[in-house]
Amino acid sequence: MAVVISGRGSNLQALIDAGADPTYPAKIVLVVSNVPGAAGLDRAAAAGIATATIDHRDFAHRDAFETALSAALSKAGAEIVCMAGFMRIVGPAFVTRWSDRLLNIHPSLLPVFPGLHTHARALAAGVKLHGCTVHFVRPELDNGPIIGQAAVPVLPGDDEASLAARVLKVEHQLYPRCLRLVAEGRVMVEERVATLPGGDAETGAQLINPSL
Ligand code: GRF
Repeated sequence: MAVVISGRGSNLQALIDAGADPTYPAKIVLVVSNVPGAAGLDRAAAAGIATATIDHRDFAHRDAFETALSAALSKAGAEIVCMAGFMRIVGPAFVTRWSDRLLNIHPSLLPVFPGLHTHARALAAGVKLHGCTVHFVRPELDNGPIIGQAAVPVLPGDDEASLAARVLKVEHQLYPRCLRLVAEGRVMVEERVATLPGGDAETGAQLINPSL
């Protein structure tokens, strides 16, 4: 599998760390950043993983950028692509090319709060549970079959930073678990819904709940 990033790469680090277990079923063959110098590239290099920078600003159109990105991912032998803080919206051709093998992590309990500034919006809305979602990517932003979700409480006195930190902690647990299920071929997609057929024992891997 490959990971595409734009920044700090803490979720990438969680996937790298999961892969240190020899029984983990997915191996990272390439990390691509669209942002030159992204910190996540250093994390990959430190783990001995091949990296590439494909700067979207070097391409006249989104399609051309995505064609180059797909080519690099294919050439590296990637069968699954994980978006981890990848700050580009991908188009239908790219989504189709990686159909149901393209994952994203989003910092809210989708379908609420798609898009940016999810923690500030959760605080402004006064929700008592917030969290993150790992989902298959569809051309519509932050809208695709949900593989797993992790919830955290919103506590009195929280600000954007404290809430973001609480969510990020569970992101790092959830993403490797969901990738494992996909890499093992356990996740089925029907229409807009992802399920684990016969996987009752695995349901815990898709769900992280706060203890109250
Ligand atoms: C995470 O909060 C992720 O959910 C969102 O972007 C952030 C990336 O953080 N899509 P990092 O680069 O993985 O540290």
